[in-house]
Amino acid sequence: MIELSTGVKMKDSDFRRIKEYIENEVGIKLPYIKKTMVESRLNKRRNAVGVQTFNEYLDHVFAPGVGKVELINMIDAVTTNKTDFFREPEHFHFLTTQVLPSYADKNNLKYIKLWSAGCSTGEEAYTTCMVLNDYLRSHPSFHYNILATDISTEVLRKGMNAVYSMERVAKIPLETKKRYLLKSKDKTKNTVRIIPELRKKVTFQQLNFMDDYYDISYKFDVVFCRNVLIYFNKPTQEKVIRKISRKIKTGGYLFLGHSETIIDMKLPLKQLGPTIFQKIDA
Ligand SMILES: C[S@@+](CC[C@H](N)C(=O)[O-])C[C@H]1O[C@@H](n2cnc3c(N)ncnc32)[C@H](O)[C@@H]1O
Repeated sequence: MIELSTGVKMKDSDFRRIKEYIENEVGIKLPYIKKTMVESRLNKRRNAVGVQTFNEYLDHVFAPGVGKVELINMIDAVTTNKTDFFREPEHFHFLTTQVLPSYADKNNLKYIKLWSAGCSTGEEAYTTCMVLNDYLRSHPSFHYNILATDISTEVLRKGMNAVYSMERVAKIPLETKKRYLLKSKDKTKNTVRIIPELRKKVTFQQLNFMDDYYDISYKFDVVFCRNVLIYFNKPTQEKVIRKISRKIKTGGYLFLGHSETIIDMKLPLKQLGPTIFQKIDA
């Protein structure tokens, strides 16, 4: 039996292979400073595949056909999935005070479609569900559904499962927790699950922002694409937001992360607030 080392050093040439692939195919910048992080995350994958060196691991990953599954694991390992419930709460405030009332006024427009683009493990989509369901209590004729997409299959699986640790849900207001979370029957687990009524509202789907065409057959009223663009270079950011804009209805809304901007980009979007945009006719 071959003895596998737990942590081997990654050669610069191996890092360059990974960097080139990730930057071209996923859009994420991988500066040299990230090498230690990539090395540590991919050592686990190298061990799982059962090879001694990163060179062998990458040959396996990039081998036509056979590496497809491991390619997804490699992308999963290098993406940053940091997220939270009720992250950047001003967007949810804007949703309930500006966006939803404007829809409630339009008699025949009470079905809104939302997209959590770069959804990670689902916290953004389920926060939106909680906020919308609260609104629904006083506006029962109002309906919505949410598409949640990400490149990482691992985060999509967690989002679909909708099970979170108690620490992860600590920021959710108590009343909201009581309404929308179920405690695990197994007392040793210390986890909660999103109630089925909210889980039914969200569809998880894999989508790579780098794809030429986004395979979604309808347009959205509201898109959250938050804390995703920061990982891309400027030309990629512009291309991605242009493709996302095509999927927003005229008059619909786009929310970006707090440190993201589309300044100097020629896009059919009007700025309403620091990270809030409205789609205009191109
Ligand atoms: C930092 S998380 C942001 C999650 C959430 N939007 C938020 O603000 O809390 C960024 C997500 O973007 C996803 N992502 C990165 N590159 C992507 C790509 N090319 N296509 C689709 N998703 C991508 C990552 O997998 C990750 O889950």
